[in-house]
Amino acid sequence: MSELAQKVKETVNFLRENGAFDVELALILGSGLGKVAEVAKIKAEFPYTKIPHFPVSTVKGHEGKLLFGELSGKKIAIMKGRFHFYEGYTLKEVVYPLRVLFKMGMKTLIVTNAAGGTNPYFEAGDIMLILDHINLLPDNPLRGKNEEEFGPRFPSMAKAYTPELIQLARKSAEESGIHLKEGVYVALQGPSLETPAEYNFVRLIGGDAVGMSTVPEVIAASHMGVKVVGFSIITNALRKSQTEGATHEEVVEIANKAGEKLSTIILRLIEKL
Ligand code: HPA
Repeated sequence: MSELAQKVKETVNFLRENGAFDVELALILGSGLGKVAEVAKIKAEFPYTKIPHFPVSTVKGHEGKLLFGELSGKKIAIMKGRFHFYEGYTLKEVVYPLRVLFKMGMKTLIVTNAAGGTNPYFEAGDIMLILDHINLLPDNPLRGKNEEEFGPRFPSMAKAYTPELIQLARKSAEESGIHLKEGVYVALQGPSLETPAEYNFVRLIGGDAVGMSTVPEVIAASHMGVKVVGFSIITNALRKSQTEGATHEEVVEIANKAGEKLSTIILRLIEKL
């Protein structure tokens, strides 16, 4: 067994011994999106700091807890807060929780984040369904020896965002009366926010939104054959980001507000899975 597989096994054993159970579904909640977890019936809760081999989250506004519960009759794991490259972790460390959840049965992953809009038609508070991504982080979670237990050396990313789930997400938004934007998410390392020229650059290369997360988790999930659907809350519109600049406080405030819209879509989506 590889060192990673051994560690994962120890983490899984710890979680199971302390009230966690296998799940079909996992949800990662980004900045200000904690509310989505409130509707789930939580059966077990683990601060990241208490979980063996987990990295420790350091960002304000990210609570850092792994929850196990039920939502719309489905067994679900919820990551309230996540790990980021800018905190100093390697991307292997960032995706460690997903390796664990995979061994606990995860077949589908719902990812969310807060992002800056680079599509000039996007407004603050919009929700964007992620159709694809561009990885501009200076790392890849699959770098180094391939972990055969989890997936192949050169996994395809052609359908990293699962087409059936994209369809279900569109339908869920429509039924909820919520207009969903769609586009490409670009991950930059941060933690500094983008300069006006960098926002422009993201737009020029085909990005509709920019952020500092999600891409590592989606690569790892895809590597493991897990189906993925992703949403960005657009917390700052392009023109304002390029003139006045975005602030972290504003990002959290808008994510909190738009979080309700996104929760509605996600709940409906989960019912359809
Ligand atoms: N840039 C990067 N990350 C972000 C932004 C942004 O403008 N807004 C929210 N997360």
